[in-house]
Amino acid sequence: MIKNLFIKKTLAELEIEAKNQNSLKRHLTAMNLVLLGIGCVIGAGIFVLTGSAAAIYAGPAVSISFAISAIGCMFAGLCYAEFASMIPISGSAYTYGYATMGEFIAWIIGWDLILEYLFGSATVAVGWSGYVVSFLNYFGIHIPEKISQSPFIYDTNGLHVSGAIINFPAMFIVAVLTSLLVVGIKESAKFNNIIVIVKVVVILLFIGFGVSYIDTANWHPFIPENTGQFQHFGFTGILTAAGVVFFAYIGFDAVSTASQEAVNPKRDMPIGILVSLAVCTILYIAVSLVLTGIVNYKELNVPAPISAAIDKFGPSLNWLTPIIEIGAIAGLSSVVLVLLMGQSRVFYIMAHDGLLWKSFAKIHPKFKTPHVTTIVTGTVAGIVAGLFPIGLLGELVSIGTLLAFVIVSIGIIILRKSEPDAPRTFRTPWVPFVPIMGALICIVEMASLPFDTWIRLLVWMAIGFVIYFTYGIKHSKARQQRNQNG
Ligand code: ALA
Repeated sequence: MIKNLFIKKTLAELEIEAKNQNSLKRHLTAMNLVLLGIGCVIGAGIFVLTGSAAAIYAGPAVSISFAISAIGCMFAGLCYAEFASMIPISGSAYTYGYATMGEFIAWIIGWDLILEYLFGSATVAVGWSGYVVSFLNYFGIHIPEKISQSPFIYDTNGLHVSGAIINFPAMFIVAVLTSLLVVGIKESAKFNNIIVIVKVVVILLFIGFGVSYIDTANWHPFIPENTGQFQHFGFTGILTAAGVVFFAYIGFDAVSTASQEAVNPKRDMPIGILVSLAVCTILYIAVSLVLTGIVNYKELNVPAPISAAIDKFGPSLNWLTPIIEIGAIAGLSSVVLVLLMGQSRVFYIMAHDGLLWKSFAKIHPKFKTPHVTTIVTGTVAGIVAGLFPIGLLGELVSIGTLLAFVIVSIGIIILRKSEPDAPRTFRTPWVPFVPIMGALICIVEMASLPFDTWIRLLVWMAIGFVIYFTYGIKHSKARQQRNQNG
């Protein structure tokens, strides 16, 4: 059994699978995919984490951190786009790994993607809960902390009991969006499109109003001098902040998990991935410059930094606060939606390959959605969101995603050697420079994350290995086919 650990699916096999697996409906256009990407990307990263990254690590230079992370994502995104245009079936990096590096590496990536999407959706649901509680507060409706916060606090001393019982609003949003996904992707994509427009407009409003309130004195020094402590300002601070705000880019890769539902995946997947990444990068750099121009970075370590900036506009613009908060709530909802969708698709394809339980691959006869995996995903994400604090979850998500990006980047170099002539509608430019840079930048960002996060990643991987060696390896369809063919 162990001898076939690196068994591969050939591109020809994947093409046949793509043709046979038409049980998922194909109706996502290039525009839907771009909006899907933006829907997933702009969320807790820009609305919650920008302020603390500026205040603790980088100062106004957090905009440079956004640029660094964007460059890493662009290199990895170019690799994703080539894969997605060659292998247009569900599963994203997992499927790419199966074709290039074999089943065992594919399992590692798949298990890693589960970490990204499942815990990512829970992380953002916790952020959603915070904004909703503050928005309702604005109108005099108070939700008690006991039922709107995690039972744990996560800080430099580790995990402590907080006195709260459960984060009910976080569980609520996961439950609502899971139901929407069970009913059907078409309805979900429409819902997503509206929300994306709302949140982009709200961000543009913030930038538009904010520009005239910038006090350039707040940008001096643009790169605050290092305090003498590693990672606190200066060059190392910019790098650490890049690792923290990397969370803000997570999700554009989720576009590739929907390729089985795209009308014209070969042409539209690269467009979906690269255009959504470009739009988000421009918005992030603009928001971080305006934010640190209005408020001194030292004052930005607050739960709602954008609202803190609007406060500086003066009473005549008070009405903007609830509007921006609605945009944030809408933005965070769409991120949870796309992450939940990506997660259920990864479960689906892994089950379809025999690496996870068969029932996960069931398609609903009427809605044509992978309803079992969607419900399992929603249940687990809801429980995690109800119990754990945002900081602990976010760190885990970043490291898992960075690992997937590293493997995908290396995968392109391998694929160019193993399948040099296979048709590709999109070719990653300057191979091997682009994939090597993608992998390197992601490795540097992983190295900048706390040691504890590495331990959690290893524990998660260990659980994955137990499942693979006790179940997946025995039920893998690729192995069974290979054995039948002798
Ligand atoms: N990029 C997503 C966010 O910032 C995960 O919420």
